[in-house]
Amino acid sequence: MNPSAPRAATEAAPRLVQLHRRDPAEVRRELIEGLNAAQAATSPKFLYDALGSLLFEAITALPEYYPTRTEASILSAHATAIAQAVGTGGTLVDLGAGNCAKALRLIPSLQPERYVGVDISVDCLEQGLADVQHQHPQLEVLGLGLDFASTLALPTDTLRGRPVFFYPGSSIGNFTPEQAAVFLTSVRGQSRDGGLLIGVDLVKDSEWLEPAYDDALGVTAAFNLNLLRHLNRLIDSDFDPRDWRHVAYFNRSASRIEMHLEARRTLVVRLPQGERTFEAGERLHTENSYKYCIEGFAELLQSAGFTRSRCWVDAQSWFAVFWAQA
Ligand code: AVI
Repeated sequence: MNPSAPRAATEAAPRLVQLHRRDPAEVRRELIEGLNAAQAATSPKFLYDALGSLLFEAITALPEYYPTRTEASILSAHATAIAQAVGTGGTLVDLGAGNCAKALRLIPSLQPERYVGVDISVDCLEQGLADVQHQHPQLEVLGLGLDFASTLALPTDTLRGRPVFFYPGSSIGNFTPEQAAVFLTSVRGQSRDGGLLIGVDLVKDSEWLEPAYDDALGVTAAFNLNLLRHLNRLIDSDFDPRDWRHVAYFNRSASRIEMHLEARRTLVVRLPQGERTFEAGERLHTENSYKYCIEGFAELLQSAGFTRSRCWVDAQSWFAVFWAQA
């Protein structure tokens, strides 16, 4: 079916349900506490306002940012084997679905009966779900707005049939290993006789890792700096992006890329009920992106309760797609 063809007036409309939005007062409390900590830090989810999401999409098109295209090449090269392992039918639950583009490539081989796109807000799902429905008119399509950053709790009626969770993009790497264990356990708890198909970025030489998070065009720098404008809107602070510098490096002992913003000079920033001084060179820690080895991630899946797992990798073993059986 041609995705750009005009929509038929009779086409079924996807159902959209906003389940839970975070309380703005709680968001402010979390941010203020993080900004006032001795080592200032904010959760990576604050990188994604409307502009941040566009900048992230641009990052995925950069030559230095290998995860997105490597994962896509694995899913396409091993589509038949993946479908054999995962099985067809059931409910495909796409976690962090966004524009649903990745699931759209998976649906022809997995042939689910139902597609549930989950993202922080139904607004960012609307277009993607309409595309899914248009290309697969027989599919039952549902969108859920839900912040699953801590644990995943889906209403049981959305998981009719065999649930196949799909969590691509190595977003699991933005959780600490402890948070990842909690998250994977909650997915396992809802998988019944299904399982989880998940993309995982693998440990590799810093020579390849660091440019992926500090690209020549400065798109990742803009993505990181844009956080400051988002903070200003959320808590009425007065961060000036020009006072800060993007820093990204691979912390090998912790097996993670760290992103920080570093003060270019000594600054006083207005915060609710006060201010905070950042000395020149002091950093605000904005994101971790953990990199796993295959054995380590398989163990994590096992300790989350999955019975067995297998994985497919690219020729350079840079990225892995795991199927974890419940
Ligand atoms: C969304 N997440 C998997 C990305 C990553 O690679 O950790 C976010 C990102 N941060 C900088 N570049 C991309």
